[in-house]
Amino acid sequence: MSINRPIIFPKTNSGNFVSTEPNKLAFNDGWQYAPAPESTDHVTIDQRYKLFIGGEFVAPEAGRHFETINPATEEQLSSVALAGEADVDRAVKAARKAYNGVWSKMPASERSKYIYRIARILQERAREFAVIESLDGGKPIRESRDIDIPLAAAHFFYYAGWADKLEYAFPGRHAVPLGVAGQIIPWNFPLLMCAWKIAPALACGNTVVLKPAETTPLTAMKLAEVIRDAGLPPGVVNIVTGAGETGAAIVNHPDIDKIAFTGSTEVGRIIQKAIAGTGKRYTLELGGKAANIIFADAAIDEAVEGIVNGIFFNQGHVCCAGSRLFVQESVADEVIRKLRDRMETLIVGDPLDKNTDIGAINSASQLETIESYLKLGQEEGAQMYQSSCAVPDRGYWCRPTIFTGVSQSNRIVQEEIFGPVLAIQTFRTLEEGLSKANNTPYGLSGGIWTDKGAKIFKMTQGIRAGVIWANTFNKFDPTSPFGGYKESGFGREGGLHGLGAYVRLEA
Ligand code: NAI
Ligand code: MG
Repeated sequence: MSINRPIIFPKTNSGNFVSTEPNKLAFNDGWQYAPAPESTDHVTIDQRYKLFIGGEFVAPEAGRHFETINPATEEQLSSVALAGEADVDRAVKAARKAYNGVWSKMPASERSKYIYRIARILQERAREFAVIESLDGGKPIRESRDIDIPLAAAHFFYYAGWADKLEYAFPGRHAVPLGVAGQIIPWNFPLLMCAWKIAPALACGNTVVLKPAETTPLTAMKLAEVIRDAGLPPGVVNIVTGAGETGAAIVNHPDIDKIAFTGSTEVGRIIQKAIAGTGKRYTLELGGKAANIIFADAAIDEAVEGIVNGIFFNQGHVCCAGSRLFVQESVADEVIRKLRDRMETLIVGDPLDKNTDIGAINSASQLETIESYLKLGQEEGAQMYQSSCAVPDRGYWCRPTIFTGVSQSNRIVQEEIFGPVLAIQTFRTLEEGLSKANNTPYGLSGGIWTDKGAKIFKMTQGIRAGVIWANTFNKFDPTSPFGGYKESGFGREGGLHGLGAYVRLEA
């Protein structure tokens, strides 16, 4: 029996696709998904947050605060303490005291129990954390629920396991903690970056002063509650909130032994200069401009999903985002057509809605940066295509955007945009693809799509980047090291390599 009824390809805000032939999509304004918002009932956000120093919540000495807003509504969520130099000094002193008095002396198997406890409490409170992450930062609940929070817990579990096995991590050597680690993190994965920084530091016996980003401090303050509830000795983890000046006070504090920073290449440079000659150790995770390379023999539909995931995931607020696409010439038309069709189905809007693919841009200033690049790309002569979806009236939004007709020297090809914006180029031979992919000051990540294992090996060896995915993109795991070449940074986080950044090895 043949069935001749329309096949419905769901969704979009503005309509849906209906077709009687599976491969031919026709646009129809029929129906949309009903809203499916995640409830905020179980979430409490205080009107005001203090600093977490020495195991207590304390007011900032100068009494100053700043607002954090929900970028999807522009409404204020809370007011957060602005830590000055005196507060940072207090936090470093608390961390030093905890290091000397308790944490560096505690048997490693005891340390690991505390870290496990943090992981378990995070799992128990996962829904609450996911909602707050989406409220404060604008990312879709699907991502905060399925990626950020579970991965953050997984990092604590993973490094808890290493704490009493450092002799196996560094065979024949004796691993000694560094002391007090100053950690400064960005707004794109707020809780996950806390976990990346705190978990290995604690596992190795260091204590911590951490500063979250000024637009996304709330899950870090909730993590402070978790750390208190897990019974960690006072001062082992201290969390201070503020902007660049607070970060600089941590970097320049004389009693800090190590700086771990994730953020812009520009601030990374400032930090590197500031600590040159001080003997402080450092790791820097900076920007990126990853190449996603599609060969003609790739599974094209999967590759298109990979492109979408590579650049539109988390609004493109990802240092390893696949922001440059290189398609082998013979399949370029097909890939771009399929990509545009797929972009039309992406839903931009309420981060708390489970159907949302692309949430809010994190801040007004980041939206301004992205928009200036959209203008620049057109001025440089590239063709811009944006999906036609509706976006909410209030809040900060950017439709998924691609540029074709770009050349290697264009600024939209060379510079990090940090938004849902993709620059597309073509190549003919593997060598040409490789040399174009490497023509960038960055080297954080890359992606290759091909049916041939030999090509994968050749490309992964040739691309100068720290993380390379084959036939997938943006996959993370606590066991896998992460970090960049060139202007993308220095050092590795994650996995066994991540431990090395928090210890000194003695014979
Ligand atoms: P940023 O580098 O200014 O902020 C990252 C963190 O560094 C925040 O916690 C901030 O308060 C702190 N910070 C700022 N100035 C500092 C200083 N002088 N000393 C110590 N800490 C300091 O990044 P921003 O301005 O939020 O974003 C600008 C661009 O940076 C983005 O458009 C994007 O291209 C890139 N970026 C890259 C990230 C990554 O994951 N590699 C994350 C965030 C931004
Ligand atoms: Mg916010």
